Amino acid sequence: MFVGNLVVKDIKFYDEDIFKLVLGKTDEIGEIKCGQFFNFKPDTVDGMILRRPISVGWQDENSITFYIKKVGKGTAWLANRKAGDTIDVMGPLGNGFNVESARGKNALMIGGGIGVAPLIELGKNLREAGASELIYSIGFNDSPYGRSKIDSITGKSFIYSRLSNDFLSGLPTDNLVEIVKSEKIDVIYTCGPDAMMEAIVKRISEEKLDVDVQVSLEERMGCGFGVCLCCSKIVKPQNSPYEHTVCVCKEGPVFSGKEVYGYE
Ligand SMILES: Cc1cc2nc3c(=O)[nH]c(=O)nc-3n(C[C@H](O)[C@H](O)[C@H](O)COP(=O)(O)OP(=O)(O)OC[C@H]3O[C@@H](n4cnc5c(N)ncnc54)[C@H](O)[C@@H]3O)c2cc1C
Ligand code: FES
Repeated sequence: MFVGNLVVKDIKFYDEDIFKLVLGKTDEIGEIKCGQFFNFKPDTVDGMILRRPISVGWQDENSITFYIKKVGKGTAWLANRKAGDTIDVMGPLGNGFNVESARGKNALMIGGGIGVAPLIELGKNLREAGASELIYSIGFNDSPYGRSKIDSITGKSFIYSRLSNDFLSGLPTDNLVEIVKSEKIDVIYTCGPDAMMEAIVKRISEEKLDVDVQVSLEERMGCGFGVCLCCSKIVKPQNSPYEHTVCVCKEGPVFSGKEVYGYE
């Protein structure tokens, strides 16, 4: 795991609160899997001790891009960085999405808000892993971001937003069953509000559709690598009558939707 300073290469705002932060990559970081995250250390002068977890939104040979929503002190500190500044980061952390599940299969990625971020890097990885069909169904309350990258991955994306008539109105889950059936979807990857992800898993279960759903959880975190236990969550593994506690940062953030929400 890398712990150290990375240089800000670029920072771009989509609106007042949503921005993209591009950091230079170094060889010491090693392989980064889609769905993994980095823990950012804001300046402690302002009393911020805990690091802030942010998913990898995109990576290339020389840089890592993070899509961030300004919600509090830590993300506001990140929003104030300038090209050339350095930021103390730790990562990559956690277990990413299982891209092998989609090899030769049809995958649907459903994202809400800032939860779309890890699905952008995921789509690129699914394409490289040989997924047959890739579809995005994504919704934004703030400005949509990452659209050129999504367009470079697939021509099939449903984008929901109330901001302009250029987008669909409604929720990215509105046509879930129709898409799954008409596009013969085998795997769903989702990240976003908990209620959205649970609704997806519940509907797939109610409709008895044979679809693997992988959910990426956003739990409050401390250390980010399995020591403080502040990100524990109770899940129910399939084929077992017993619930057990998982550490979201280390064993996740990606889990089977059925395990997390308890639907058969
Ligand atoms: C695995 C993972 C990936 C994430 N990826 C992204 C991403 O790509 N882009 C993005 O904008 N946000 C992401 N988040 C949410 C992001 O970590 C929080 O919005 C951020 O920590 C808020 O910090 P703050 O100081 O601005 O807000 P404050 O509310 O002031 O934070 C106070 C404390 O609560 C924690 N906290 C607050 N909200 C969250 C949250 N939603 N999840 C976890 N901890 C929280 C903070 O880390 C901090 O310790 C992710 C969270 C997790 C767990
Ligand atoms: S954040 Fe410390 S154990 Fe997960």
